[in-house]
Amino acid sequence: MGKRSSDSPYLQWTAAERTSNYDVALKGVSIEYESFNPALERWYETRAFSPRYGQFAHLFADITERKKTEEAIRNLSARLLRVQDDALRRLARELHDTVAQSLAGLRMNLGVMKRFTASDGRAAEVLDDSITAADNAITEIRTLSYLLHPPMIDEAGLLKALRWYVDGFERRSGITAALNVPDDLGRLSRNVETSVFRVVQESLTNIQRHAGSATASVSLSRFGDRLCVEIADRGSGLPAVVRDNRDALLASGVGIAGINERVRELGGELTIHSTDEGTTLRVTLPVA
Ligand SMILES: Nc1ncnc2c1ncn2[C@@H]1O[C@H](COP(=O)(O)OP(=O)(O)OP(=O)(O)O)[C@@H](O)[C@H]1O
Ligand SMILES: [Mg+2]
Repeated sequence: MGKRSSDSPYLQWTAAERTSNYDVALKGVSIEYESFNPALERWYETRAFSPRYGQFAHLFADITERKKTEEAIRNLSARLLRVQDDALRRLARELHDTVAQSLAGLRMNLGVMKRFTASDGRAAEVLDDSITAADNAITEIRTLSYLLHPPMIDEAGLLKALRWYVDGFERRSGITAALNVPDDLGRLSRNVETSVFRVVQESLTNIQRHAGSATASVSLSRFGDRLCVEIADRGSGLPAVVRDNRDALLASGVGIAGINERVRELGGELTIHSTDEGTTLRVTLPVA
């Protein structure tokens, strides 16, 4: 009692809120928004409406707990993605260093044995089959290991890894894929390089699985301290139910939701533009 409304910590309007209060009171529109009150250190969902011309009223709901839970889930997802990247990196290296090395040893021994069996037609034939099988296994293990985590990301950098991946994608999918990258991009942090690689990998996989496009393009560009990554196709576009509904799109699979988390963790932005003529996914990231 005896206090003016502006004394209440609930009612410290920001400039934007003051403007919207006038709109509500004079135009009769109703609006809903979420805001953080620094004095109370709590989040509120506010519904502003006009009970009578020239007046406005606010209904507050305290949503601090929900906000905290959402933040905790986002942090957990970001951590899970990092743990997954590390696990894939380790698994890829193990496969390469153990199974692939044993197969290479086996292949060498088979080559030596071939010299001793030259006179025995049947043995030579079986040995040739074994050599072919060993060669195939070596190629398969190497491809699997590289797809899990291309070693060239760590050694030669993102561009080499992307070039290798896009070439393999063209062969496997039959989709013509172009890679446009500035030559002077330089090295970026390990986290950024791994994330960009995963974003491109997921987006091209999506194009192969969902877009029905004959072509795809991957473009990287750098403007000062911003890196822009664009993956585009000329396919059928996102399904209508998720095209203009970001929440529904993020809930419809793990791939784009994962991209969104990676980008958020790095302080970047994800935009998806989709029409009946195709889809463009654009990620902008701050880079040092
Ligand atoms: N390039 C694209 N063209 C058309 N539709 C797409 C494209 N990329 C994604 N979509 C649509 O968006 C949905 C969500 O994609 P997302 O990658 O999140 O999940 P998913 O590919 O279905 O499954 P996964 O979790 O294995 O990635 C897809 O199911 C598909 O309908
Ligand atoms: Mg996907």
